[in-house]
Amino acid sequence: MRAIVFEELGGPEVLSVAELPERRPGPGQVAVDVAYAGVNFMDLMVRSQGHRVDTLPFVPGVEVSGVVRAVGEGVTGPAPGTRVAAHLPAGGYAETAIAPASTVFPLPDAISLRTAAALPNVVPTAYALLHEIGRLKDGDRVLVHSAAGGVGTVAGQLARKGGASAVYGVVSSLDKAQHAVKYGYDRVFTTDAFEQEVLQATGGQGVDIALDPLGGDVFGRTLSVLGRFGRIVSYGNAAGGDPWQAGYADTATRAISVAGFSLPRLAAADPARLRAIVDAAFAAVAAGEVEVPVTEEFELADAAQAHRLLESRTSTGKLVLRVAG
Ligand SMILES: NC(=O)c1ccc[n+]([C@@H]2O[C@H](COP(=O)([O-])OP(=O)(O)OC[C@H]3O[C@@H](n4cnc5c(N)ncnc54)[C@H](OP(=O)(O)O)[C@@H]3O)[C@@H](O)[C@H]2O)c1
Repeated sequence: MRAIVFEELGGPEVLSVAELPERRPGPGQVAVDVAYAGVNFMDLMVRSQGHRVDTLPFVPGVEVSGVVRAVGEGVTGPAPGTRVAAHLPAGGYAETAIAPASTVFPLPDAISLRTAAALPNVVPTAYALLHEIGRLKDGDRVLVHSAAGGVGTVAGQLARKGGASAVYGVVSSLDKAQHAVKYGYDRVFTTDAFEQEVLQATGGQGVDIALDPLGGDVFGRTLSVLGRFGRIVSYGNAAGGDPWQAGYADTATRAISVAGFSLPRLAAADPARLRAIVDAAFAAVAAGEVEVPVTEEFELADAAQAHRLLESRTSTGKLVLRVAG
């Protein structure tokens, strides 16, 4: 089977097409004939920093859509032939992907395979950030960094649907503001100077929920615009700064809650809980309440181009690789 591999860490140029032996699903696993593979920011960290890479050569890719080819020992479903989306630790940029059965999700008819490849990572993540951790309620003011990207595009819509009274997006360049506004954001600010604008927009009260995939100094600056009983969720370190720290003095004055989230860790530790989140998140997509726009599609062999685009910080929505779609 064809797959994208890298044999050393580095820039997009380390990605190449390879012919690999076909793999069979082991106990508890499902083999999926991949139609499309989603491209995620995490894939860039895997390729450039070796994030979660145990051995080389390595096939990146944490989400796919396709059709079940075979199931391993002890797996009772989904049956071969079922259209599915899957979340997997690695190996998604390939004609056949092997996923744990616990994170293979049958697709509602209303969801196409192209859209389905864009769902497993960002939609449950945005749903969990806002509902499970952020405890979104009617009237909350929500702030989302990287608002025009994959998670951000979904979070804006879910926040609005969940009753937020104001949804503020932050982007590194206002070129992406129009996209964010289309997907639920009331106002869009820039990363270099969002604090003052958030305080102005909220009459000095700050926001109730803030979602931070950037980390570094952005985390502390975001903490400073949380209102009383505000909740901040850290779920990435895209800015690449030092790990953030928050203590009693930072949180007690305004009774702030600080939380973290990792979908891969939830998938590994509590797949049943993840499945409940996925069911709710996919139902919102199937009902047309949330749209996940695939803004660019690349051939599998052009995975490096997709990485270059995502790395340029100019992309919006989701990027996918067409494998057999
Ligand atoms: N914890 C979890 O379970 C989980 C799950 C999914 C995603 N995430 C995190 O959520 C974030 C969004 O993921 P995504 O896959 O949906 O990606 P994405 O938002 O489509 O793209 C990444 C975004 O990160 C921002 N960014 C900041 N520094 C960057 C850099 N050095 N290079 C490229 N982009 C940079 C850019 O937005 P701006 O320039 O506008 O800021 C870019 O649009 C990532 O940080 C990812 O690691 C975490």
